[in-house]
Amino acid sequence: MNIPVILRTMSRCLLLAVSLIVVSPVARSQAWDAVGFFKYNIENVTVVPGAPGTWTVKAIFSVTKGDTDETWDIQNALPFRSQGAGLTLDIGWDPTELTNTGSANPLLSPIVTTALGTGAALPLQVRNLQTTGATRCASDVECPGVASLVNRFWVARAVTPVTFMRAVKTGRVALEGKPVCNGIPGYACPAAAPPPAPPYLNVPVPSAVASFAFTATESLAAIIPDPRRQIVDINKCRQCHDGNQHGDTVVPRLSLHGNNRTENLGLCVVCHNANQTDVPYRYLTSGTSADPRISGPEVPIDFKVMVHSIHAGGFRETPYVVVGFNSSVNDFSDVRFPRALRDCTSCHIDVNGKGTFELPLGPTVLGTTVKTQSVYQVPLSTPTAASYRSISVNPFDDVKISPTAAVCSSCHDKSEVKSHMIRTGGASFATTQLAIGTTVNERCASCHGPGKDRDLRKVHEIRGGSSGTDDQHDD
Ligand code: HEC
Ligand code: HEC
Ligand code: HEC
Ligand code: HEC
Ligand code: HEC
Repeated sequence: MNIPVILRTMSRCLLLAVSLIVVSPVARSQAWDAVGFFKYNIENVTVVPGAPGTWTVKAIFSVTKGDTDETWDIQNALPFRSQGAGLTLDIGWDPTELTNTGSANPLLSPIVTTALGTGAALPLQVRNLQTTGATRCASDVECPGVASLVNRFWVARAVTPVTFMRAVKTGRVALEGKPVCNGIPGYACPAAAPPPAPPYLNVPVPSAVASFAFTATESLAAIIPDPRRQIVDINKCRQCHDGNQHGDTVVPRLSLHGNNRTENLGLCVVCHNANQTDVPYRYLTSGTSADPRISGPEVPIDFKVMVHSIHAGGFRETPYVVVGFNSSVNDFSDVRFPRALRDCTSCHIDVNGKGTFELPLGPTVLGTTVKTQSVYQVPLSTPTAASYRSISVNPFDDVKISPTAAVCSSCHDKSEVKSHMIRTGGASFATTQLAIGTTVNERCASCHGPGKDRDLRKVHEIRGGSSGTDDQHDD
């Protein structure tokens, strides 16, 4: 379980139960100072077409010692082979929305399992690259396009992307995971407090991503520039997410999921796509001891909904609660944005008077799934306790919010405002992706678009044309 989750879960417990634990900040879990000794590099991606609709995607990668040319031997070096360390490669796809449709199986049939943890629209994942997951590069033929073969490794998987709304032409690979602070030459790792070792402190190395094209013929150099539009700028996030105090809060650096996913939003969106919810760790609870929030309806974790909802803790009427790893309950309603929440340029790119927060949305932006049609727990037979789960990976039958309403209602969640979105705006809070743009047509831009009567810039009191970075509020 990652530390932010523990702290957030604990702080909620403290609000609910009065006595108990004092949350002390002394237990360090990350060694940020050691990050500079590591850099993840995706050096090349090759793509080989197989049977129609199938490709073998190979990623060739290394971990260098910071910005030097020297490489770590991830299969032997202590920071990668000590308890708690691990590296994973994610392979995702879709034209721009990275929904990874078909990653579980090309028929989109439900995943039936007894275990928790299965998602609805996750990328393909290859784990434990530091042990058996990856192969050491032995030749230029095996690993084309790399400057050296020393400590270069490769992973390859066959994938069968399924079209969801638009033909799949591109994909993305991501290298995530973390070394731990143990045995870094020339560096004295701070002792974990307590105990000294193990467990070791995590080293939150920034994740790496590369986009590639699914080519009709073999491509030995398939990396392409990022085809996805840039919406927000992580340097703006970093103005708060720097580990320092802002307003009443020490805002942590952006390293989530047990420090495995760090400071690269291009990685987050591979999983936090429009078709993803927090279904993985939900289950039906019974008895009085279980937390009923875990068995409640799925909550979207689409980035365009999740990030607004988290920061709008002080503005939303309904708490935004995500069921996270190991069924932890993450209630973000206590988050207070240390600036004016209405100033979209705190996060969004805003150049020459054109902001990425403005309407209309691009035609590729998908509605946000609020129900995947998964069943958390299916009894095998009554009265047997044994049961299985059925996770729907088919996005065509998902219940969705139309995309503009999803964005706006992630902050503006009052029921009368939602009614306005439906009646005046043509939005729907219970539709399907196939209906959006056919029977469900959002008209928001005709009043809230640039230059219109209720222009977003005007109603949110944003000055036009500024880059936003030097235009901060303190309230
Ligand atoms: C004006 C300051 C500010 C900016 C800018 C900002 N955030 Fe935050 N963010 C916060 C605060 C405050 C919290 C709550 C921290 C806490 O209570 O632990 C938070 C929490 C989060 C969390 C939840 C973290 C957790 O540990 O559960 C995520 C994820 C997040 N922000 C992402 C982003 C992203 C992505 C951006 C940029 C696109 C961004 N933030 C920009 C202030 C900011
Ligand atoms: C490999 C997939 C994947 C990646 C990559 C990923 N997430 Fe998540 N994230 C999830 C899933 C799935 C959930 C829902 C809870 C669960 O099942 O673990 C989640 C939940 C969350 C939550 C809410 C609950 C919690 O556990 O704190 C936050 C905040 C979050 N992610 C932030 C991020 C950020 C920021 C990034 C990028 C730095 C990121 N995630 C990258 C899959 C991913
Ligand atoms: C705390 C950071 C933050 C703030 C403040 C913020 N946004 Fe966002 N917004 C995001 C993130 C993150 C995304 C998703 C980015 C991605 O998918 O790459 C997003 C996505 C969007 C999108 C979808 C854009 C697209 O092309 O898909 C719209 C529209 C939007 N935001 C509107 C707004 C408006 C309007 C405001 C101000 C009232 C605002 N946002 C304030 C972080 C923020
Ligand atoms: C990041 C959170 C956030 C997002 C996303 C967001 N807003 Fe807002 N919006 C605000 C805040 C905060 C205010 C100021 C409300 C206040 O001062 O009471 C506001 C004010 C407004 C107002 C003026 C309302 C009034 O009573 O004066 C309108 C209209 C509006 N927003 C429309 C939209 C639309 C349309 C979208 C979607 C494209 C959107 N907002 C997305 C946070 C947000
Ligand atoms: C015919 C014009 C029109 C259309 C179309 C329209 N709106 Fe509005 N909207 C308004 C007006 C007028 C207000 C009130 C603004 C104010 O108080 O400043 C408003 C207010 C809002 C607010 C802020 C409400 C509040 O009090 O906090 C949101 C959010 C919003 N609209 C979202 C949407 C969305 C989403 C759509 C499309 C699905 C949409 N609107 C379509 C005219 C329109």
